[in-house]
Amino acid sequence: MLAKGLPLRSVLVKGCPPVLCAMREGPGHPRLPTGEGASISTQIPRPFSEIPTPGNNGWLNLYNFWREMGSQKIHYHQVQNFQKYGPIYREKLGSVESVYIIDPEDVALLFKSEGPTPERFCIPPWVAYHQYYQRPLGVLLKKSGAWKKDRLVLNQEVMAPEAIKNFIPLLDPVSRDFVKVLHRRIKQQGSGKFSGDISDDLFRFAFESITNVMFGERLGMLEERVDPEAQRFIDAVYQMFHTSVPMLTFPPELFRLFKTKTWRDHVAAWDVIFNKAEIYTQNFYWDLRQKRDVNNYPGILHRLLKNNKLVFEDVKANITEMLAGGVDTWHLYEMARSLRVQEMLREEVLAARRQAQGDVSAMLQLVPLLKASIKETLR
Ligand code: HEM
Repeated sequence: MLAKGLPLRSVLVKGCPPVLCAMREGPGHPRLPTGEGASISTQIPRPFSEIPTPGNNGWLNLYNFWREMGSQKIHYHQVQNFQKYGPIYREKLGSVESVYIIDPEDVALLFKSEGPTPERFCIPPWVAYHQYYQRPLGVLLKKSGAWKKDRLVLNQEVMAPEAIKNFIPLLDPVSRDFVKVLHRRIKQQGSGKFSGDISDDLFRFAFESITNVMFGERLGMLEERVDPEAQRFIDAVYQMFHTSVPMLTFPPELFRLFKTKTWRDHVAAWDVIFNKAEIYTQNFYWDLRQKRDVNNYPGILHRLLKNNKLVFEDVKANITEMLAGGVDTWHLYEMARSLRVQEMLREEVLAARRQAQGDVSAMLQLVPLLKASIKETLR
């Protein structure tokens, strides 16, 4: 696992003080007191067994975790463990054993040590669903050469700076409409302020953004009335996530064999995700066959279909994953929790806007803190 294949200056090898003792403090990275792991110091690779752990009995650990936290609060549990064991610890929960690292330097080192086809943690219930129902895989669950093949095509259309420039005219009006929605909410409350849950608006904003970038078409999710079928997709992504949590520690096959509600809800959610994405993609494909000229940038799906580098099945699988992956919006949530960072970001964005004089591409080059905060949130 962590120890395997890392260069000699890995987290487990380099002297302890910078990693184990000097946890950095900063926005979104509160100082955690280090636990017993802090006393480890070594210049040579240490065995896996020496990584601090609450104990090797996965089922006992799982029982203790459930007793203290309930199954949905795994991140609080992890924070407590970092406080107890230091910035690297391992824990077996049920049948799944993981090594946890929290220091950004260690995370960077781990990523740098990945080869050309990195190994990711494939979420067991997602794998189980795809295998059992023989759903096509995109880059989310593909591995090795198959992953690389898809990913290289997607890099060109989704990640490359020349491609990203095309997204600005699609994303900018959606963001402006989202701000209007927020003003509408404030007005509706009549007190000049808004307090309450805006998660529905956030999900709709994210879905409107991702669908516009994918299909080059607005779905109208930021209108007062939204398409109930599009809302079903958003709800399914939420449900899919929610039902994943219990199956992270118990083998999903058990949930399936015993026909539990968790498994049934999980399957139903994925079915909606696949069916809706199929309908969106298929309709787009038919429309495309009627259209002759395309003047403006037509969206990612159009580009993937036109460049013919992936077969239609792979295009559909990747579009499905990008639609589902694009629904969650953690950055705004984290900003709401950290008002100091929010204020710093606001100042940065306002200064960038003044300097760029309305040129959004230029503005994007002037917001390093915003980019760093998005990366930090994803971490
Ligand atoms: C809490 C929600 C999520 C977060 C924070 C998140 C975060 C991330 C991050 C950080 C990466 C980059 C990984 C890397 O390059 O090493 C990533 C990749 C990706 N995510 Fe998510 N993700 C979330 C949910 C989802 C969901 C629900 C899906 C689809 C069902 C999804 C689909 C993808 C895909 C397709 C990639 C690209 C994978 C690859 O190229 O190997 N994500 N996600």
